Amino acid sequence: MSHVTDPTAAPTAEGPLLSVRGVDVGYRTGRRKQVTAVRDVSFDLYPGQSMALVGESGCGKTTLGLGLLRLLPRTGVVSAGEVLFRRKDGRLVDVRTLAREDLRRFRWNEAAMVFQGAMNAFNPVLRVRDHFLDTFRAHEGGRRSRARILERSAELLRMVRLDPARVLDGFPHELSGGMRQRTLIALALALEPQLLILDEPTTALDILTQRSIVERLAELREELRFAMVFITHDLGLAAELADRVGTMYAGRMIETGTTRDIFHRARHPYTSALINSVPPVTGDLRVPESLPGGPPSVGALPPGCSFAPRCARAVDRCESTRPTLDVLRSRPEGMSHAAACLRSHELFSEGVTRD
Ligand SMILES: Nc1ncnc2c1ncn2[C@@H]1O[C@H](COP(=O)(O)OP(=O)(O)OP(=O)(O)O)[C@@H](O)[C@H]1O
Ligand code: SF4
Ligand SMILES: [Mg+2]
Repeated sequence: MSHVTDPTAAPTAEGPLLSVRGVDVGYRTGRRKQVTAVRDVSFDLYPGQSMALVGESGCGKTTLGLGLLRLLPRTGVVSAGEVLFRRKDGRLVDVRTLAREDLRRFRWNEAAMVFQGAMNAFNPVLRVRDHFLDTFRAHEGGRRSRARILERSAELLRMVRLDPARVLDGFPHELSGGMRQRTLIALALALEPQLLILDEPTTALDILTQRSIVERLAELREELRFAMVFITHDLGLAAELADRVGTMYAGRMIETGTTRDIFHRARHPYTSALINSVPPVTGDLRVPESLPGGPPSVGALPPGCSFAPRCARAVDRCESTRPTLDVLRSRPEGMSHAAACLRSHELFSEGVTRD
């Protein structure tokens, strides 16, 4: 098992908010069949930090995000590892072991997730107002009156730059895509979670709407100090919003470091190829032209480095030896630079990566 941080150091009151250790996530695909979509992922996220998860389609970003909050579909399961979370009352819990009722309190109050498909997250027959009322009542009981909830909902909508008078009375389909996405962010922040996971929250939106939502998210993070995991195909957004970046490939975290390390000193040939393949205007890495072929199926990974079949730098030992995520430069607060490449030292000194 590979760890970016000291695996024996339990998170303390001053330590990580989230400590993911050796996590595997699988999906049942038949009576006795299971595919492991996320393998041995470890990282720490400190209070207020933001981390971007990047990588090609199918590399396990959404699966990991869902697994962290136990929001996987019925066929999915976190099958190994620990997801340690420091709750608001200071208690350290493993999200994997939370009982149903505790899990319900944990979600929204402590950690919330915003998905890409905003429309699917709403009940189409309920007005936006009812979504806020339901969320507060389900997670706070009767602590606030209806009037207080609506007051707070209006405040939250103003926070994401929406006009509450217009939005609260509307149905989800009456809002534009950007307004729906902002509304979901407002809902996710309703109970002041310490962690917000956003899964490509702006991918379906036009570039100006995308820009203004991202700017607002950055401001909100400054104001409210929540930690964030930002899943994206867009390296430009990652650079803008994240303190650090984790690159995923075929279910594994293959490089992690500060945003500066990743963009200026990438040490894994895959991260390097992603960065070099970004077209200057859109910043979208869906089709990395410099990378031939596609990632291997998570059900049939090669025995050595999963990237070997596409790696221009592969040598014989890459086919047989699986690289571990080794720390290259140690930094405090989960910011260490680590890469899973057998040749990262020699390739870096050859100048394969940009500095
Ligand atoms: N419900 C499911 N049942 C079986 N396999 C699944 C399921 N959901 C995802 N997978 C598989 O798990 C792997 C990771 O998928 P995931 O959706 O997490 O990737 P992703 O990085 O979020 O991709 P994208 O960028 O396209 O959103 C893929 O091989 C995918 O086929
Ligand atoms: S271990 Fe080998 S195949 Fe894998 S990324 Fe490094 S050089 Fe390429
Ligand atoms: Mg996804």
